[in-house]
Amino acid sequence: MKSSQPIGLFDSGVGGTSIFMEIHRLLPMEHIIYLADSKNAPYGKKSKKEIINLSIKNTEHLLLRDCKLIVVACNTATTNAIHELRLKYRVPILGIEPAIKPAALNSKTKTIGILATQGTLSSELFAKTSSTFTKNIEVIEVEGKGLVEAIEHGAKDSQETYALLERLLKPMIEKGIDYLVLGCSHYPYLIPQIKNLLPDNVKIIDSGEAVARQTKSVLKELGILAQTQQRIPEFYTNTNPTVLRELLQLSEPPFNFSLSSLDF
Ligand code: DGL
Repeated sequence: MKSSQPIGLFDSGVGGTSIFMEIHRLLPMEHIIYLADSKNAPYGKKSKKEIINLSIKNTEHLLLRDCKLIVVACNTATTNAIHELRLKYRVPILGIEPAIKPAALNSKTKTIGILATQGTLSSELFAKTSSTFTKNIEVIEVEGKGLVEAIEHGAKDSQETYALLERLLKPMIEKGIDYLVLGCSHYPYLIPQIKNLLPDNVKIIDSGEAVARQTKSVLKELGILAQTQQRIPEFYTNTNPTVLRELLQLSEPPFNFSLSSLDF
């Protein structure tokens, strides 16, 4: 494996770009290839078998591009398929899971909220992590039904999405959570609205920064961290690229990227 090889990321759609941003910020030298499988979004409603098959399809595409490491930038794909991916492929495969541990460890009200897809909330991996870290904690799990679709359709700032979020967060606020875990890589794009709806004492956490740090430490350990500036990041989507382009252009500071449609 060579340090100049790319890192591959995939998600059920545009949401994993929130993970991309963290990795790109921490590792600006790395060449990153991102696949947005928006044609098959949302994964959260699919069976475990379907999620595994889609994850294999995406991984195969990234391996055709000679990626040195794969990041599953999707909680639903991680919690349902990472085990199978790791058995099948030799490259290091990292994933993202809802950040329950820091929320549970730091909660003062001993009540935390998790917003995630049905696929993540019903997965064995999530159940295992949750039961390990939340022994004396009340966990309010809410399925973010409709949120992935809203973001995929470019409606993150719509009144309907705001009203939907208000309904989803209400039971958590009523129970007195002091941490909200965003268990889906699409949701960081809703942070401004979520902040507006939550009481000031509630902290919002997601897994983006942690996975970026983990990516760096794995590459370092393997001696394959890019040492010199590689190519600009490449983004591929199997639907219309408009929403993906809009999200990428939100980045502060802006960055150069290439974006293409691809049938995968
Ligand atoms: N970004 C994906 C996640 O983190 C969304 C899943 C979906 O497509 O339902 O879970």
